[in-house]
Amino acid sequence: MLSQRVFMATPPRLFSVTRRVLSSATVSASKFEGGVSMVQGASRGIGLEFVKQLLESNDKGHVIATCRNPNGSSGLSHLKDKFSERLRILPLDVTVERSIEASTMSIKETYGHLNLLINASGILSIPEVLQPETTLSKVEKSSLMLTYEINAVGPILVIKHMWPLLKAGGGSGTERSVAVVASLSARVGSIGDNRLGGWHSYRSSKAALNQLTKSVSVEFARKKDPIACILLHPGTVDTDLSNPFQRNVPPDKLFTKEFSVQKLLTIINNTKIQDNGKFFAWDGQEIPW
Ligand SMILES: NC(=O)c1ccc[n+]([C@@H]2O[C@H](COP(=O)([O-])OP(=O)(O)OC[C@H]3O[C@@H](n4cnc5c(N)ncnc54)[C@H](OP(=O)(O)O)[C@@H]3O)[C@@H](O)[C@H]2O)c1
Repeated sequence: MLSQRVFMATPPRLFSVTRRVLSSATVSASKFEGGVSMVQGASRGIGLEFVKQLLESNDKGHVIATCRNPNGSSGLSHLKDKFSERLRILPLDVTVERSIEASTMSIKETYGHLNLLINASGILSIPEVLQPETTLSKVEKSSLMLTYEINAVGPILVIKHMWPLLKAGGGSGTERSVAVVASLSARVGSIGDNRLGGWHSYRSSKAALNQLTKSVSVEFARKKDPIACILLHPGTVDTDLSNPFQRNVPPDKLFTKEFSVQKLLTIINNTKIQDNGKFFAWDGQEIPW
């Protein structure tokens, strides 16, 4: 895991001086005519599959993949071997704001802008640390805080820092005319759709992500920023996250990463400014808040 100390070691003054120097740098956008996409939470699962499909579907597109420990992702290393020119891997832990700032600076310096930002990181359970609660009596403050920090606070800080870089247009192969920010939420984060209860920490963290994203989308619209901020439910997807909870999922309701990401990219690539602030399921249906 990334050491928090690496980021704490950069003096704040030096950081802001570097930021000023970088802001005067002019980066040629034409070099990146195929578009620049960032996938946050790209080490494995749905995030990794997004990186793969973005690289495969657009042979001029550049992708920045961020994750906590770049050296620990064999999936990203494999893609780097195949797409060395168009894939950049950067360290980013959503709980360490300095790492978000460092990635922002690096992206600004190399690419100058981002056309697409996907927040794919998230947690549901961690062995010995966090289990989805089946009853109120199992709710712990530490679980609520940890889930909230990673699933809601982290993605919003990423959007906050990347905001100045977001630029309309998606490059060849997409219908996008606006910059898109897509964050992976979950249907269980819907308050209107909550019929089963339970999973208090995960549900409420995704509901918080939804509300924070909705507020950001309202601000973008008010400022007439050509950015559409959307929330996506990928379905139940066969990944490490869902693995311990797949027992009661009918086989036809358990999606492969390939299928889910294909569906989600279709939504992303057809996003219009009118979609700003909407919450979509994998099949394009809107989900109630
Ligand atoms: N799979 C499903 O059925 C399903 C259903 C609904 C919604 N979702 C949502 O879809 C998203 C992706 O889920 P998944 O199934 O792909 O899960 P996954 O396979 O468990 O992957 C989770 C990703 O989040 C990253 N992550 C965890 N903590 C992080 C942190 N502090 N900073 C940065 N990255 C961090 C992990 O990185 P490390 O490798 O470093 O741990 C990993 O890349 C999540 O937001 C999840 O809630 C999934």
